[in-house]
Amino acid sequence: MFEKIVQECLENKQDGMLARIAEIAPALRMLKNGRTDHAFVLSFDAGGRTAEGALSVKAGEDVVAAYEAAARAGTEPGVVLTEDAGAFALGATMEAAVDARDAFLAGRPVPACAGKAGDKPLSGKVMIVTGGAQGFGAGIADYCAAQGATVAVTDINLPLARETARRLCEKHGPCAAAALEMDVTSEESVERGIRQVVALMGGVDVFLSNAGVLRSGATATLSLEDFMYVTNVDYVGYFICVKKIIPIFERQHAVQPDYWMDIIQTNSKSGLTGSNKNCSYAGSKFGSIGLTQSFAMELVDIGVKVNAVCPGNYLSGPLWSDPVDGLFVQYLRANKIKGAKTIEDLVRHYNGKVPMGRGCEPEDVAKAVVYIIGQNYETGQAVPVTGGQLMLK
Ligand SMILES: NC(=O)c1ccc[n+]([C@@H]2O[C@H](COP(=O)([O-])OP(=O)(O)OC[C@H]3O[C@@H](n4cnc5c(N)ncnc54)[C@H](O)[C@@H]3O)[C@@H](O)[C@H]2O)c1
Repeated sequence: MFEKIVQECLENKQDGMLARIAEIAPALRMLKNGRTDHAFVLSFDAGGRTAEGALSVKAGEDVVAAYEAAARAGTEPGVVLTEDAGAFALGATMEAAVDARDAFLAGRPVPACAGKAGDKPLSGKVMIVTGGAQGFGAGIADYCAAQGATVAVTDINLPLARETARRLCEKHGPCAAAALEMDVTSEESVERGIRQVVALMGGVDVFLSNAGVLRSGATATLSLEDFMYVTNVDYVGYFICVKKIIPIFERQHAVQPDYWMDIIQTNSKSGLTGSNKNCSYAGSKFGSIGLTQSFAMELVDIGVKVNAVCPGNYLSGPLWSDPVDGLFVQYLRANKIKGAKTIEDLVRHYNGKVPMGRGCEPEDVAKAVVYIIGQNYETGQAVPVTGGQLMLK
């Protein structure tokens, strides 16, 4: 069901319209924070209609001020009609925003935006996950959706992101997750993807910069192309994502200066200690800790905490266990671990490096993500999630 709403919301929305919506929706949404926890704001085409209970705002009039005036007068409209940015349906939950839109389009009186988002730790929060189609990203999205978050699963692999979002909706509710295409190495793609999320959900509370790739190899033979590929996704991509989410966070902060938002990067234990024959990856991850600390200092002024989680090896995940080109297959072929003759030998070897005796699972990382979101006094930190394999000094 949500897939159809995503499609309806985004079709025919050109860049100019998305930019205009991004100026209005996050502010409208934050206006409701405190009264509904947050609101979801779904933009749609009213097709020239009007309906009882909808607020009409004239061209040139300040939409947010008009909404505030209506709220002060005792009604918090579930639909706002503008002359230049289309219509906005508001609800305490995504489902309630869809209901308000549907009531409006069916010519029924529009319900007021009221009620609470829910009582789970992440209820009411919109979360963007990059590289969310599979692996850690998909697992963290799943766990956070179970904690109440509404998740935008973004990836360069849109078909797989759609499958993941569908699965989350089946498990956690009809509007728990939406899939969108986003290539973190492209400023244009990231900007458009973020604005599409805003057009669909109204804003963003948590940005998880998770997309990451790895091309290992001895430094003497590693091609510059492979080095740059990893650097572009894992390091430059993080910069691009943060650069492009800032305007949305600024807009929200201007309306609710006491509200804290989050940027979290999925870093790695290789961001805290070197990684043999893996310089491009470790270099990007170390560099990203520098970005995290610097972003944290800068963005504190707009109510954003910036932290990283540093997982250990996700030995059961696709990166390691893919039967065709997973790291286990690669390492076996390259004879990387002396004496290891089978995949099982390698799994035993890597499990043996961890005091807790097993690889890192998405739920382990997701729990650290939820911990970070819940903190009021933590920014610029890198939280190891390694079963004791790496301990901070
Ligand atoms: N797998 C591990 O052992 C491990 C350990 C520590 C940290 N990490 C980190 O966790 C994160 C996720 O890794 P994973 O193991 O789940 O990887 P994965 O390969 O299973 O998934 C990565 C996802 O990112 C997507 N992606 C690739 N390039 C992209 C781009 N340019 N823009 C948007 N999406 C893109 C892929 O399509 C894929 O869906 C990465 O940052 C990685 O460095 C992984």
